[in-house]
Amino acid sequence: TFVVLEDCIRCKHTDCVEVCPVDCFYEGPNFLVINPDECIDCALCEPECPIDAIRAEDEVPAEQQHMTALNAELARHPNWTQIREAREPLPDHEQWRGKPGKLAFLDR
Ligand code: SF4
Ligand code: F3S
Repeated sequence: TFVVLEDCIRCKHTDCVEVCPVDCFYEGPNFLVINPDECIDCALCEPECPIDAIRAEDEVPAEQQHMTALNAELARHPNWTQIREAREPLPDHEQWRGKPGKLAFLDR
């Protein structure tokens, strides 16, 4: 499966969802995740993200290993819904680009 990394939090550009052939992205208030039960490993989404926030599961950086389980968990969150079409990124995304420690700002 592919995994959305912390960098997406508070940015959420959504270019990724446009290319997914199985529509397996699920979004919350300031982040989105890939449902590992639905992802078919096509790899189309990875190059679409303008801030490089998507990786294959076996290429997730060591310090972000927790993101694999978090994608699976949040994809089942009752308030998180499927997202199929791109929209504008979050208004202050430029300010948050590349900031460390974004997991603390995840809204569920
Ligand atoms: Fe969708 Fe393919 Fe990305 Fe999986 S790898 S989330 S199927 S676009
Ligand atoms: Fe997030 Fe990148 Fe998609 S910022 S919403 S993973 S295009």
